[in-house]
Amino acid sequence: MTDHSLDDMPQPIGTLALQTIAMPQNANWNGDIFGGWLVSQMDLAGSVTARATAKGRVATVAIDSMAFLRPVPVGAVVSCYTQLQDIGRSSMQILVEVWIREDLGGLAKVTEGHFTFVAIDENGRTRAVRG
Ligand SMILES: CC(C)(COP(=O)(O)OP(=O)(O)OC[C@H]1O[C@@H](n2cnc3c(N)ncnc32)[C@H](O)[C@@H]1OP(=O)(O)O)[C@@H](O)C(=O)NCCC(=O)NCCS
Repeated sequence: MTDHSLDDMPQPIGTLALQTIAMPQNANWNGDIFGGWLVSQMDLAGSVTARATAKGRVATVAIDSMAFLRPVPVGAVVSCYTQLQDIGRSSMQILVEVWIREDLGGLAKVTEGHFTFVAIDENGRTRAVRG
């Protein structure tokens, strides 16, 4: 009987906020995907969750402890998962994880980062997230 411990089958934390495919134009000279493109997808995914939480405009104010765990090949399905971890007056801390699935491979986490978004009004000034 197979032992399916959690370590054997790691799972994404949070909920799926954005899914796309890594395209050739996003690759670097090694043929793998640019880290900057991945960060951009993570920022978009985090902003989906932040906008829903703040019910309006948000801005990215900080990105902390970004870790790139393994390269992303062209053609991989890229899935960004987000988890709201804390809410301040105007700020929201959101964990963003990126997982890929290759046609011949399993699910693997490639990147994670902690993003801080701030709720802003139409003039770009901070506003309270709750009411
Ligand atoms: C977001 C912005 C309006 C905040 O203005 P600000 O004068 O720094 O506002 P505050 O100092 O009152 O901080 C607002 C909140 O952000 C938090 N914050 C500010 N800088 C932070 C940082 N580097 N890391 C984590 N949190 C931070 C504060 O703790 C505060 O949280 P709270 O309201 O929950 O207590 C302003 O910094 C801005 O416009 N930045 C550019 C945003 C942008 O264009 N992002 C896109 C990428 S370029």
